[in-house]
Amino acid sequence: MEKRKIVVIGSCNTDMVIRVDHLPLPGETIIGHDFMTNQGGKGANQAVAVARLGGQTAFVARVGKDGFGEQSISLLRAEGIDTNCVTATEGVSTGVALIPVDDKGENSIIVASGANARLSIEDIKAAEPLIKEAGIVLMQLETPLETLMYAAEVACKAGARVVLNPAPFPKDPLPGEFLSHIDLITPNETEASRMTGIEVSDEESIHQAIRAIQRLGVRDVIITAGGKGAYTDINGELIHLAACKTEVVDTTAAGDTFCGALCVALSEGRSLSEGIRFANQAASLSVTRMGAWRSIPKREELKP
Ligand code: RIB
Repeated sequence: MEKRKIVVIGSCNTDMVIRVDHLPLPGETIIGHDFMTNQGGKGANQAVAVARLGGQTAFVARVGKDGFGEQSISLLRAEGIDTNCVTATEGVSTGVALIPVDDKGENSIIVASGANARLSIEDIKAAEPLIKEAGIVLMQLETPLETLMYAAEVACKAGARVVLNPAPFPKDPLPGEFLSHIDLITPNETEASRMTGIEVSDEESIHQAIRAIQRLGVRDVIITAGGKGAYTDINGELIHLAACKTEVVDTTAAGDTFCGALCVALSEGRSLSEGIRFANQAASLSVTRMGAWRSIPKREELKP
């Protein structure tokens, strides 16, 4: 039987968002505009994107045993996401992100990890039956690396396609052993530069970075480039798939929407370039709206 389930392993945050005219400089205090409390977290955003875009998804995460955590779990369930492996943890808060968003839609994000930092190898062992049923396992880097390394190994052995969104990129290089269990990676231009030491600035350097990441052991590499769309290498040729032109209100969770949408398309048996086209559409729509979960489109809003 074809395995269609997408298991997302990662973070769940409550986002505190303030609209500002410009992002504050070091030492600067600025007066912002309206304040919003939103559901977010790279992992939760990606799980919600999968669910809204028609994928079957289960989420593996930790929240605090607090109001934010309870709210997140109940809203994840309302999206149709299997939350049996989302654990409410005593003595630690749910992850929180502070996000100023400027008038060009750009943001900066500070995350207090809280319960996300407690996601453990034991949690992955508890989720093994789910991982064994999955066609795709999708993860990011807002939870402990040793836990993700274990999860990638389990998923790889179970025959799942392992997809890594390497955000936020850590201080140290990603271990080769981890990358050897990743089938598809989706860095943005900055993350691709950090991974390879190549300054990614034009198509030639993007292609060089893709090839360098492939040499690190990951077969499929997609470099996302914001409003320019995304790049991949197919049979040695650089393929560019442009983003749709839209008015940018807030870029928060655009990358997460892209990853969730991409995995849905791949789980339906579509090719990498068809998946990128679908993901570009979803991400382009998400930037026209404020917030993380609240900006993620539903399937019926996209072209087939
Ligand atoms: O990718 C956007 C997300 O990053 C936000 O929702 C925030 O919670 C941080 O995890």
